[in-house]
Amino acid sequence: MRLFYGLSLPDPVREEAKMRAQDAARVIPGRYVPAENYHVTLAFLGEVPPERMEEASSVLARTLSGFPAPRLSLGGVSFFGRAQNAILVLRVLSRPSLQPLHDALLKSLAAQGLPFDPGPFSPHITLARHAVIAGDALMPLTGSAMSFTPRQAHVFLSARSAANQLCYTPVCSVRFPF
Ligand code: 2AM
Repeated sequence: MRLFYGLSLPDPVREEAKMRAQDAARVIPGRYVPAENYHVTLAFLGEVPPERMEEASSVLARTLSGFPAPRLSLGGVSFFGRAQNAILVLRVLSRPSLQPLHDALLKSLAAQGLPFDPGPFSPHITLARHAVIAGDALMPLTGSAMSFTPRQAHVFLSARSAANQLCYTPVCSVRFPF
C-alpha cells in the first residue's frame, strides 16, 4: 500500500486553492490535480506492506501527541523542479513550523523500521504536474492568504480508482492533542 501522512483542507481553503489553480491554468499549461486530491503532505512513506498499516498509524498517533495543531496559511503560487516540466504548488506557511513535526515523523518511522522519503520538506499543496512555466507567468497569480487550523492529521492511502484516477483516501485520522 502506498501511504503518506498529511493534512486535509477545509472546504473554503480547498475552494480558494482551486480558484488559484484555475487562474494559473489560464497561463500555465500542465496536468492539473483534481481539487478532491488537494492536501498538505507531512511525510511520504511509499510502499508499506498491508500488515504494517497499524504500525504506520501508531507512529502518526505517537508522534502527533507531542505537537500542537499548527496555524496554516496559503502562500503564493510557486514551483519545484524545472520551469519546463515543473510541479506547480501553492506554498503553505505554518506557525509553528511544520519542520519539527516532519523531522519527528521521519525519526519515528526510522525507529520502527518503516520506509520514508528523506528528501527536503517544504509544505505545499500540489496544483499541477508537468507544468510549463514561461517567463513571468507566476507574477499575476495572487489571492487570499486564507488561514486555517487542521485539528487532525491522516494516514492517506494513494491508489488508482477503477477509472484509473489517482485518489488519496484517509485511512486513519489522529487528532492533535491541543
Ligand atoms: P505532494 O502533492 O504533497 O507533493 C502521494 O504520492 C503524494 O505523496 C503525492 O501527491 C505527493 O504529495 C506526496 N509525496 C511526497 N514525496 C513523494 C515521493 N517521493 N514520491 C511520491 N509522492 C510523494
